[in-house]
Amino acid sequence: MSEVARILVVGRTGQLAQALANAGRPGLSFAGRPEADLAVPSTLEAAIGQAAPDAVINAGAYTSVDGAESDAASAFAINRDGPAELARLCAARGIPLIHVSTDCVFDGRKDGPYEPGDAPAPLSAYGQSKWEGEQAVAEACPRHLIVRVSWVFSEYAGNFVRTMLMLARTRDTVTVVSDQFGYPTYCPDIAQGLFRMADAACAPDFAAYGTYHLAGSEAIDRASMAKLVYAESETLGGPVAAVKAVPTTDYPTPAARPLNARLASRKAIDTFGLTMPDWRLGLTASVKTIVSELSAHSKSDKG
Ligand SMILES: NC(=O)c1ccc[n+]([C@@H]2O[C@H](COP(=O)([O-])OP(=O)(O)OC[C@H]3O[C@@H](n4cnc5c(N)ncnc54)[C@H](OP(=O)(O)O)[C@@H]3O)[C@@H](O)[C@H]2O)c1
Repeated sequence: MSEVARILVVGRTGQLAQALANAGRPGLSFAGRPEADLAVPSTLEAAIGQAAPDAVINAGAYTSVDGAESDAASAFAINRDGPAELARLCAARGIPLIHVSTDCVFDGRKDGPYEPGDAPAPLSAYGQSKWEGEQAVAEACPRHLIVRVSWVFSEYAGNFVRTMLMLARTRDTVTVVSDQFGYPTYCPDIAQGLFRMADAACAPDFAAYGTYHLAGSEAIDRASMAKLVYAESETLGGPVAAVKAVPTTDYPTPAARPLNARLASRKAIDTFGLTMPDWRLGLTASVKTIVSELSAHSKSDKG
């Protein structure tokens, strides 16, 4: 292995892929559609062969939770069958695969944060496709780290924070559920955690393969998080809306979401010596960047 582990990231323009790319870590390469398409598993061998990595991080996924209800075939192809092939290829090369998964493998009925060993019971096609993907990865590649994340936000790509700010540009009031609780997680913190885990897994004596959770540590509900976004935005002269808090029963969506999405990160923190910084710092940074992007766009729109 070279001095700095060469890591191939599958996924290029998504939120996590961008956070990984912007972390300034040497030895990274990226493969995305069409040359590395999880929906076309035959494309993956050439992508891995070309990069010749020491480890692979799979940041690619079918991520439309509601879309998966009506397009389950795509969700299972991208979230289960593609990762299964990726895992076979990594196993054949004897390299670790770090595969990113989700809180949506759980039904949210637990009274307390979910531990990695808790039994999955997905409520949605998306959650089921990710759970089956986890099992396929674990079966095909002994050197696997399955890393579940939740409520991911950042200045990159689409996410809850950007959605709230975009909505406030055209609405005075935004309706947000107040009975779904989670640990918001700043995507660049996940990127740092994944690098640390990948580097550890590249060591010849590493043995702690398995499933981990990587999330922030202070619980909040969605409506309160939206209010925090607008409070930050207001200090910057950015878009602001009133938040109408409603129960999930008043906000029907095609896919059910777990009311409790809290993932306990202790196992990852202890095993890899990680720190997960306060997600509120990430929220401040994300709002600042997105507000300044929006204001630059609205200025250029005007003229
Ligand atoms: N965002 C969250 O709140 C959240 C919560 C829990 C778990 N997760 C998990 O975190 C991981 C990263 O999510 P994210 O937030 O970065 O999602 P995202 O912004 O929607 O990005 C999805 C990524 O998947 C790639 N992708 C989609 N279809 C693909 C295919 N057929 N082949 C290869 N790549 C494909 C996209 O690539 P293109 O550039 O080609 O479009 C993009 O890079 C996923 O495993 C997701 O399930 C996210």
